[in-house]
Amino acid sequence: MVVGNFQAWQKVLSDAKRLESASLTSLFAEDEFRAEKMTKLVGDGKTEILVDYSKQVIDQEALQNLLALATEARVLERFGEMCDGKPVNSTENQPALHTALRADSKTSIQVDGKNVVAQVHDELAKVKKFVDAIRGQKRFKYLVNIGIGGSDLGPRLIHDVLSSVGTTDFRCFFVANIDSSEINAVLAQCTPEETLFVVCSKSFGTAETLANAQVAKKWLARGMNLDLASQELAEHFVVVTANPAKAKDSGVVAANTFEIWPWVGGRYSIASAMSLLPMIAFGFAAFEEFLSGMRGIDEQMRSTKPEENTVLILGLIDALNFGAARYPSLAVLPYVSALRLLPNYLQQLVMESNGKSVRLDGSEVSVKTSPVVWGGVGTNSQHAFMQMLHQGTQVAAVDFIGFARVPNADAEMHDQLTANMLAQASVLAFGRALQGSRNDALSNHRKMAGNRPSTVLMAVELGPRALGAIVAIYEHRVFVHGVVAQINSFDQWGVELGKVLAGEISAQVGGHESSFSTSHDSSTRGLMSWYRSSRKPNK
Ligand code: F6P
Repeated sequence: MVVGNFQAWQKVLSDAKRLESASLTSLFAEDEFRAEKMTKLVGDGKTEILVDYSKQVIDQEALQNLLALATEARVLERFGEMCDGKPVNSTENQPALHTALRADSKTSIQVDGKNVVAQVHDELAKVKKFVDAIRGQKRFKYLVNIGIGGSDLGPRLIHDVLSSVGTTDFRCFFVANIDSSEINAVLAQCTPEETLFVVCSKSFGTAETLANAQVAKKWLARGMNLDLASQELAEHFVVVTANPAKAKDSGVVAANTFEIWPWVGGRYSIASAMSLLPMIAFGFAAFEEFLSGMRGIDEQMRSTKPEENTVLILGLIDALNFGAARYPSLAVLPYVSALRLLPNYLQQLVMESNGKSVRLDGSEVSVKTSPVVWGGVGTNSQHAFMQMLHQGTQVAAVDFIGFARVPNADAEMHDQLTANMLAQASVLAFGRALQGSRNDALSNHRKMAGNRPSTVLMAVELGPRALGAIVAIYEHRVFVHGVVAQINSFDQWGVELGKVLAGEISAQVGGHESSFSTSHDSSTRGLMSWYRSSRKPNK
């Protein structure tokens, strides 16, 4: 196998091979302090995440070789360069400054002669003013977020967590898909006069969002008996975008528009005004808590030397687990319902960032990149897919996420929830010795081989700060794996072609064109034909 330019990959790849015969039971038996050595607290003094990576199938030799890889790849230096605004997103010649969104206001980061942190804080001040005004007015009862991908998953995730720890007077909805049953079901629950639409789109070129915004506008005009050109409609729209002009051209006229910037990737925009809906629903202070949780991780990532840098080490373990093709997937199992969307959120963050196969220099990548990210909330997952995780032929690396305190939870039931999480991690790691010498016909069926890796992340209290810290940990894990694999984690060329083709096919299946373009493959043409003959005719 041609290995990447980093020589240190040679040892990392041979570690992956060597560790195939390792056993967690033996690794723990060989070092009684293993768990203690591999359990660390990350974050600032106010928010800490306990990280136990001792049940990953690694040893000190592998860790040292991973740290050597990080040194050769200048991971922490590259992290500093990213935070300082260097154009790390080289194919789009853009910085990736999501860390600036939560930087302390005294920080100065220059991009094109402007201090972007000042821009961020100016915008946050405008957002806060708007949020406080909307919350004070009591004019709106329904908040509807219209956006998709990073313009949807981030605000939804924050909304879910804040809903579980607090209350709101607003009824909140999220619309993303171009499946109009989604927006129709939402609008059926709202009254036009009391509805505020938050239209989130960095590009304002996303078909789903544009279509849904038009449906919303027509619904509002009908419901308020207004002309579509009526300025009164604008008061029911607020736009969050990096392209205000395109928003206006699209016919979405909003009384308020808040800015994000080209140097914030969609999947990294949760810390921006894209999270406006949960800010309105729960107050700006909760969002500031979220930002503070992220900032603590950013600062620690940047200031901690490699061998003590737990977030760096988690990213390097990802590089070993997924870059060296030990496991095909990462299962994220939050043991709290409020984080049920975290696996979805991380699917975009990880797979859209690192689902690449070309290096920064245009050459073919030489190690594996993004894992398949999936998962589900515990304990539901124990009644769905844990069987495969325990006894299947495909071993997944698992991240368990739990909390010591969850407001509004029954203490005893929360104990049971957490006990289940700890039990699952233990059984995955150590399996279950066969009961005694029972050698009955079932013994093989009951065998639990164990040796299945997991990391357990736990916070004291579920809330915006812990969520911010957890999201930042994953953002930086993605960064680490991307750097050592030498890919650009910040572009997404792979999603462009599908959008173009969908536009062509949509025009044709809709019957707006007399015949199907022969440029389509025969399978697609056949399916288009069947669909067009089966769909109900345009009204
Ligand atoms: O999936 C492609 C993508 O561009 C994502 O990166 C982004 O989060 C989503 O579509 C929505 O894009 P926009 O915010 O520009 O509407």
